[in-house]
Amino acid sequence: MIYTICMMGKVDFFIDSADPQEIKKALSLGLVDGVTTNPSLMAKEGRKPSEVIREIADLVQGPISAEVLATDAKGMIEEGKKLARIHDNVTIKLPMTEEGIVALGWFSQNNIKTNLTLVFSPLQALVAAKNGASFVSPFIGRLDDIGHSGMQLIREIKTIFDNYRMETKILAASVRHPEHVREAALAGAHVATCPYDVLKKIFAHPLTDKGLKAFLSDAKKAGLSV
Ligand code: E4P
Repeated sequence: MIYTICMMGKVDFFIDSADPQEIKKALSLGLVDGVTTNPSLMAKEGRKPSEVIREIADLVQGPISAEVLATDAKGMIEEGKKLARIHDNVTIKLPMTEEGIVALGWFSQNNIKTNLTLVFSPLQALVAAKNGASFVSPFIGRLDDIGHSGMQLIREIKTIFDNYRMETKILAASVRHPEHVREAALAGAHVATCPYDVLKKIFAHPLTDKGLKAFLSDAKKAGLSV
């Protein structure tokens, strides 16, 4: 059902991971339209980020967010240029800071795709969209953690973007469980990026397991074979 909810087109699932082995497993589930990485996920890999991004780009046909480490616009542009050269699918992930917005202007003028990360307010999303961001990443789980509503943020960004027909895509990030995915789809987010564990849980339902067990037990008792 969630595929029909977003009036602007289909909803995409990205995997939030920098682990190529995990990404391969998720690909077999048919749930990887793209990938998001961040410096903390890269740190777990213990390899040069450009090397990891190259490996992921060989696996996945879709946007791959690679985050800059510099905090000044000039440094972000230099790093982003290097990352963008790895593959056409690389999307430069910039922090939602003043310097990040300056760097965003450069990437927008040079037609390089961007993802503005660590978005926690509708106005941050609006500024990013006005400056040509390809994606904005509102962090749902981290807002919920401090007693705010991550989903309310998604809804407000969606309303603002729709009011002005903004083309920037809403990428629901910091997703902790399938319920976040369901609600983000209902709110009209274009993408939900999920850790592998959450992607797997999207398939699961205790009644599916219980029902299958009963079917197989009945078949065994009757001595059925296909
Ligand atoms: C998104 O791009 C981020 O990498 C990610 O969703 C952050 O999630 P966390 O809050 O679980 O670290």
